[in-house]
Amino acid sequence: MEGHPNIDTDNINNPHDNYKDIIVTPWEVLGDLEEKTYIKLIEKFGTQALSEELIEKFKKLTGEIHPLIKSQYFFSHRDFDWLLTKYENGDPFYLYTGRGPSGSVHLGHLLPWLFTKYLQDKFGSKLLFQLTDDEKFLYNLGATRETISKYTSENILDIIAIGFKPNLTKIIIDTKHINHLYPIAMEIAKKITFSTAKAVFGFTNTTNIGMIGFPPIQAAPCFLPSIIENKPTPVLIPAAIDQDPYWRITRDIAAKLGFYKPAQIHSKFLPSLSRGISKMSSSKPETAIFTTDEPEIVEKKVLSSFTGGQATVSLQKKLGANADICPVYGYLKYFFDNEKESVERYIRCKSGNLLCGECKSDLANNTRTFIIEFKRKREKAKDKVKDFMFD
Ligand code: TYM
Repeated sequence: MEGHPNIDTDNINNPHDNYKDIIVTPWEVLGDLEEKTYIKLIEKFGTQALSEELIEKFKKLTGEIHPLIKSQYFFSHRDFDWLLTKYENGDPFYLYTGRGPSGSVHLGHLLPWLFTKYLQDKFGSKLLFQLTDDEKFLYNLGATRETISKYTSENILDIIAIGFKPNLTKIIIDTKHINHLYPIAMEIAKKITFSTAKAVFGFTNTTNIGMIGFPPIQAAPCFLPSIIENKPTPVLIPAAIDQDPYWRITRDIAAKLGFYKPAQIHSKFLPSLSRGISKMSSSKPETAIFTTDEPEIVEKKVLSSFTGGQATVSLQKKLGANADICPVYGYLKYFFDNEKESVERYIRCKSGNLLCGECKSDLANNTRTFIIEFKRKREKAKDKVKDFMFD
């Protein structure tokens, strides 16, 4: 296991944790990301699986089942049913999501944001989008304020390129808009002990105190809508499950401060292109696809990806391949294939009627087209930054 001087994962000491082999914190994801890992995470974190009943309730409001729900990419939640009932009873909700600007944005980051845009379109929700430039400066030992600031500006273009509505969306940069966050963050910080922070995040005596003091800053936007609207306001956070530790501490103290607990809908991770089903990560650039990659680089990365294939073509035709551990299959499933295409691909793969070259080529072509179009939107975003900034 990798180590980081700021975090000791052995320190995450939930006595009821039967799953110490899976480590998921906002900064580190260790262990194979197989399907069964996600089932275990629901138990480990004490969240709820998205039940069929809840998906039906969601469908009634949206008119369809979103592909990322159907494919179970979003698989878990906290209080999503409560939030929908509130909405049905005339109480609109805010959306809140974010980005830690430590590098370029990769395709994994885009999925929760695309889903957030979908929710904004369907529910007309206002959105707070937080950029935790402070978190990334404090966590990454080699980071300078200049590099983080450069990525903050770059990442804002990605966020705008998603297509959020400017009149409903506000981007918060922690170091810039701290005056809005700090009063609430103080209230939150006063209610959380170091012992809780250690248990939830794995902080140790060698963690810098900036990191220890940071979590209330990410918690603050959960309550900001109630302050802006001047009444208790429900908030839904779409994000991958790595961010859940923040919401656990926030939910614990919400009632004490007179706010609703923020609701969450959790996604899985888009896998990296390397062996071992780990999450796509900016820290392993050769195995992640960035929105800033040139199309030829995208193609090269996809073509050299790990797959679930056999060692030779004849073995593959005979035995079939393993789509369950194949990042190329995963990418196609969550990003590009529709349900029917994905099921057909799975069957052909398992039965030896599909070779990895075909999937790689499908993924390379799709990703190439997607990235070219996304880059165009990123360019256009340059003129719109002001419209999205928190005042
Ligand atoms: P960050 O920048 O690590 O990640 C941004 C968003 O992308 C999700 N994510 C992934 N999703 C799928 N596959 C992956 N491989 C993958 N890697 C990351 C994250 O869950 C997140 O939703 N501290 C946060 C920034 C933040 C935030 C928030 C995130 C501030 N407020 C509210 C979500 C909600 C961070 O560093 O995210």
